[in-house]
Amino acid sequence: PSLEKEFLPMYFGWFLSKRSSEILRKAGQVFLDELGSLKAFKKESKYFTSEDPKIKIDLTSYFVKRPPGVLHCTTKYTDFGKAAGAEDYAQQEAVRASYGKGFTLSISGLFVTTKTVGARVELNEQQLLLWPGDADKLQAADSLPKGSRAHITLGCAGGVEAVQTGMDLLEFVKLEKAGSKGEEVGEIGGGKLQYFGNGMWMLTLSKKIDVRAIFSGYYG
Ligand code: 2AM
Repeated sequence: PSLEKEFLPMYFGWFLSKRSSEILRKAGQVFLDELGSLKAFKKESKYFTSEDPKIKIDLTSYFVKRPPGVLHCTTKYTDFGKAAGAEDYAQQEAVRASYGKGFTLSISGLFVTTKTVGARVELNEQQLLLWPGDADKLQAADSLPKGSRAHITLGCAGGVEAVQTGMDLLEFVKLEKAGSKGEEVGEIGGGKLQYFGNGMWMLTLSKKIDVRAIFSGYYG
């Protein structure tokens, strides 16, 4: 029988379990609280507030746009089939075979910029098979390791779209690659905090957070 052309989702990705979403949200919350009360952060607060931060900067209310429901890690934004490479991605054997399957993703860091707060995801070899070839570039000339962009958006500042989180993470990776280690601010609760300037903060977790997730599509 002749079937209609497959209807593609808005995006493919890993959708965290409710429990894992709660754990990761909580870790993000603790990070924002701790960062906002840090002396080193207050010194650089001009990127986040015009007020003199005498007490503490409330980053939770700064990142007003928070994803509702369960958290996710986008692999390919297909825009219901309209995005470049959407059909090719959806037809890949790895994508078809993994659809609806369970995975454990490893969270290696948490980061904050003036626009977004997110979790850095470290993909393993099997998970990288689901990663699209065109995702890890900000500029055409960029050549960053596959999966560099893998992240989970935890929040965005007012007027910022979620797509920004991945671009922000790529900026960190570019700086790291250029040999900039950032300024080591020291150890805080979950790990080692680095400052890259311009309001860019990266916490490398001393103990990675494993989250359970299902690979699937989001149809809106
Ligand atoms: P995110 O992956 O950083 O959270 C719906 O908008 C989802 O698709 C969001 O989760 C969003 O960002 C992601 N998204 C939107 N536009 C995108 C794009 N052009 N490229 C990659 N991901 C995109």
